[in-house]
Amino acid sequence: MPLDAKILDEYKKRRKEVFAAGGEAKIKKRHDKGLMTARERLMYMYQPDTFQEVGAYIKHHCTSFGMEEQVFAGDGIVTGTGFVDGRQVTSFSQDFMVLGGSLGKMHARRMVLGMEYAMKNGTPIVGISDSGGARIQEGVDALSGYGEVFYRNVILSGVIPQISIIAGPCAGGAAYSPALTDFIIMTEQNAQLFITGPQVIKSVTGREVTMEEVGGANMHASVSGNVHFVAKDDRHALDIARELLSFLPSNNSEDPPHQPTPAVTVVEDTGMNNLAQSDPSVAMDMGAIVRRLVDNGHFLEVHAGFAKNMIVGFGRVEGIVVGFLCNNSMEKAGCLDIDSSDKGARFIRFCNAFNIPICTLVDVPGFMPGIEQERGGIIRHGAKLLFAYSSATVPKVTILCRKSYGGAYLAMCSQDLGADIVLAWPTAEVAVMGADGAVNILYRKELKEAEDPVAERAKLVAEYRDEFASPYLAAARGYVTDIIEPSQTRSQLSMSLRKLLGKRELRPPKKHGNIPL
Ligand code: HXC
Repeated sequence: MPLDAKILDEYKKRRKEVFAAGGEAKIKKRHDKGLMTARERLMYMYQPDTFQEVGAYIKHHCTSFGMEEQVFAGDGIVTGTGFVDGRQVTSFSQDFMVLGGSLGKMHARRMVLGMEYAMKNGTPIVGISDSGGARIQEGVDALSGYGEVFYRNVILSGVIPQISIIAGPCAGGAAYSPALTDFIIMTEQNAQLFITGPQVIKSVTGREVTMEEVGGANMHASVSGNVHFVAKDDRHALDIARELLSFLPSNNSEDPPHQPTPAVTVVEDTGMNNLAQSDPSVAMDMGAIVRRLVDNGHFLEVHAGFAKNMIVGFGRVEGIVVGFLCNNSMEKAGCLDIDSSDKGARFIRFCNAFNIPICTLVDVPGFMPGIEQERGGIIRHGAKLLFAYSSATVPKVTILCRKSYGGAYLAMCSQDLGADIVLAWPTAEVAVMGADGAVNILYRKELKEAEDPVAERAKLVAEYRDEFASPYLAAARGYVTDIIEPSQTRSQLSMSLRKLLGKRELRPPKKHGNIPL
C-alpha cells in the first residue's frame, strides 16, 4: 500500500514548523542587522547536504506564564552532525529568534543529545551561543538544564575538542558552559559575555560601566583572557572554527591530522640567522621566527591579544602538527608573569590531551618582578607552567634562542622538565640570571671598593658573559642535546618531530594530579 497522502502532508507540515523558527519577520530583522540565523550559521560551516539534525521535534513542556501558547519545534536550538572538510563535527546553535534562545530543560536536552553523540562517536563539537540565558518561565528546570550541560562539558573535556562561538548574548551562569570548553571565539558585533551586566553592577556597586567594558569581545580577548579569538562577524567566527579544527584530532585517541611530507628536507634558511639577536638589550622578533619555522608561514595564533609576552599557536612543520609556545621579548621583555603563565599552561594541557607535539622557543629573562605579581600569586600561576610541562607526555622539543635564565629557563620546558630534545642557538645564554644582576650580587663589595667602579663593573660583566652567556657550559653538562645554527632550525625541528612521533611515556597511575589552580 503506497504512503497515505494525509500522513505525508502531516509530516510536511510538521517539518515546515521545524524550519519556521521565529517566523519571517524575525528572520528579516536579523538579516537587516547583518546577522545569520542559527541554521544559516551551521549551513555555512558544514559541507553541503551533510548536516543531519538531532532532536528536531523536541518541544518544551512548560505551562507557566502562558508558555503553552509558545511552543516551537526544536525549542530554540538546532543540534546535529555533518562534515567539515571531510571530517565529522557535531554542533549546536542557539536560535535567538525563539524565546530569545533561552535555555529550558528540553532546549538543554537537545544540546546534551549532541554532546553525548559527540562523545560516543569521538567527534569535535562546535557550540554557537546566542541566548538570553536561563529561560525564566521554567525556573529551576532551566537551572537543571544548565547543570546537565556543564556536567557534560566536563566529561567531554580532554576527550573531544570543544569549541565555543559567542555570537550573541551569553549572560550569567550561561557563560560557564563556553568557559568549560577548550576555545572561545567571539564576534565583535552583537555578542556579550558576562556574569553580571552594567545594570546589576550599577545597582550593587554604584559604578557606571558600558557593555563593551564588561562583556565585549575585545575586552575578553585582551584583558580577562576568556576569549581566544575575536571575529569581525558570524562568517569570520565560523572560518576561525574551521581553521582551528584543521589542526586538531577528532578525539583524544587519535593523532592530530598530520600531513607529513614524504621526506624531511634539509634546507638551510639563512634568513633565520638575521633574526637571531645576540644583543641582550634588543628585542627579538619571535613572531617572525615562528612563522619562518611553519609550513608556508601559516601559524594560527591562539589568544593573540592576551598576555602578549607569550606567543602560543598551531602550525605544521613539514606536515606535522605542532603547538608552539614562545617568549616574546617585544612585550614586557619576554618575562613570564601571571597571565602568560596561565596562557601557556592551558595551551600545553590542551596539546597534551590531544596528542599534539609541543615546540618551545625560549628567550626569557626571568619571572616578572613586581609587587602586583607577588601579591597576585605569580608563585601559584608560574607553578602551573612547571606543572603543565612536567605532566605533558607528548613529544617536547625546546629551542633555546637567547635568554634562558633561572626558574623561567626551567619553566620553559628545560630538559629537566621533560624536554625530549633541547636545541640551542649559539646566541643562547643559559645561566641563573643575566650578567648585570649576577655581577651586582656576586661583586657588591668589590664594586664598592673599586677605584673606578664603572670600569670594574664593565670588566666583570664581560667576564660573566664570556663564561655563562653561551650555551656551551650547559651543553658540556649534558643539558643541551645539540647546538645548531639558526638557519638549520626548521630542518632540525622537522627531523626531531618525525623521530619523536612514536614516543610513549608512561607515568605512575593516579586519579589526577593537583595542578595549582
Ligand atoms: C525567557 C527571554 C529570556 C530569558 C530573553 N527572552 N531572555 N525569555 N528567558 N532569559 C525573550 C524576551 O522576552 C523576548 O521575547 C525575546 O527573548 C528577545 O528578547 P529582547 O529583550 O526583546 O531582545 P534584546 O533587546 O535583543 O535583548 C536581549 C537580552 C535581553 C540582552 C538577552 O533579553 C535580556 O537581558 N534577557 C535576560 C538576560 C538574563 O538576565 N538572563 C538570565 C541570566 S541568569 P519576545 O517574545 O518579546 O520576542 C542565567 C542563570 C543561568 O542565565 C544559571 C546557570 C547556572
